[in-house]
Amino acid sequence: MPSVVAVRRYIKPSLFLACLLPVILLLLHAFNIGGTLGTNPVEMIQDTMGQWGLRMLIITLAVTPLRDWFNAPWLIMLRRMLGLFGFFYVLMHFLTWLILDQDLYWPGILTDVAKRPFITIGFAALLMLIPLAVTSTNRMMRRLGKRWKTLHRLIYPIALLGVWHYWWQVKADIREPLLYLSIVAVLLAWRVWKKWRSSARRRAAPAVARTPGGATD
Ligand code: HEM
Repeated sequence: MPSVVAVRRYIKPSLFLACLLPVILLLLHAFNIGGTLGTNPVEMIQDTMGQWGLRMLIITLAVTPLRDWFNAPWLIMLRRMLGLFGFFYVLMHFLTWLILDQDLYWPGILTDVAKRPFITIGFAALLMLIPLAVTSTNRMMRRLGKRWKTLHRLIYPIALLGVWHYWWQVKADIREPLLYLSIVAVLLAWRVWKKWRSSARRRAAPAVARTPGGATD
């Protein structure tokens, strides 16, 4: 298992750079290095940001289960960074749409948000992500106490809205949104099972304590 120092010094900075790769590739392609942005650069940028936003959110959701399955407590040290990258990519996806696609034409923007269901859903997910990003600091974690955990459970509905938003505008090939949905469903099912198991144990504990000598058998 890597030490805290190794995670801080090597793993975290390497992961940071890895998370930046999609942006770096887009920048290189914008200058025709190693590829191009294709015939519709705005769509390419927007789609790449949206894809990576969703992937990062799902990877963030997977951190706690992976920690438990592989007995790797150090993984938690990477969770905040992954979640913030998720927010960053979704925000860039939104800003690309707002500035490059819609040209900041507010009547069109407001109509789209209100009348195009897949955009309404994406927008709702973005709004829900903001409080999570704002409260991601240690200080906010301490200040909110138990409420922090409750608030940050919003990541599950956000990921589901993100998948729904994606699914809705996919024309024919649903394989990728289906894969994302399956992953989120497995992670959510595991979370629910873990919660159910710990409350069952809590309910059983006083019964054990009541038995003379606390005998279990
Ligand atoms: C958690 C929030 C969001 C996630 C995870 C997300 C993710 C995605 C993904 C994965 C795609 C498909 C990209 C592809 O076709 O390869 C997409 C497309 C799109 N998203 Fe989002 N999105 C989010 C929020 C938003 C918001 C806030 C807006 C605008 C208000 C928006 C507008 C769009 C549009 C217009 C497309 C279609 C682009 C096209 O025509 O190819 N999304 N999004």
